Amino acid sequence: MVKKKSCVFISGSGTNLKELIKSSKSYNFPININLVISNNKNANGLKLAKLHKIPYKTLNLNNLRDKEQTLNILKKNKIKLICLAGFMKILPKDFIKKFKGQIINIHPSLLPKFKGLNTFTKAIKAKERFSGCTVHFVNEKLDSGKIILKKKVSIDKNENEKSLKLKVQKKEYKAYSEAIFKIYN
Ligand code: GRF
Repeated sequence: MVKKKSCVFISGSGTNLKELIKSSKSYNFPININLVISNNKNANGLKLAKLHKIPYKTLNLNNLRDKEQTLNILKKNKIKLICLAGFMKILPKDFIKKFKGQIINIHPSLLPKFKGLNTFTKAIKAKERFSGCTVHFVNEKLDSGKIILKKKVSIDKNENEKSLKLKVQKKEYKAYSEAIFKIYN
């Protein structure tokens, strides 16, 4: 099987990146992680890239020169899929257009509920019975592209932001790889 070349965009701890790297090592996983791009030079996820010998760059897509450099590096590496994994910047609209149907994101809520930030607090405050994560295609509107899959967790009686985050993140690690399988099968 020829694996598609992919790039993961991160900003922080990179725990989803870690799981994606793990999945990509299995022979039937549809993608390879060929590149990691971070907008934050101190992102812990960059250490993972280094550890696994994946080329990485720190670039800010909201800066014109960096955007050009990103486009060049994605082209040069023949990247076919961009996975946003804890990427905390809003991508420029023209960049999204260029990669229509080729950018996916993982969001910590059951979309379309609770777009944007602080999703756990919002879900608890709204007295929701369930929370979870959603993997979706990225379009020009925040957290609004076509949904690939969702995974649910229950919000228990004394749930707090920290406990809910732990539960949801555990689901995220499975959800992201499953969604990538789903896209290519
Ligand atoms: C995840 O919870 C993801 O849903 C959100 O940001 C978090 C990133 O975590 N978009 P990590 O950097 O993958 O550890």
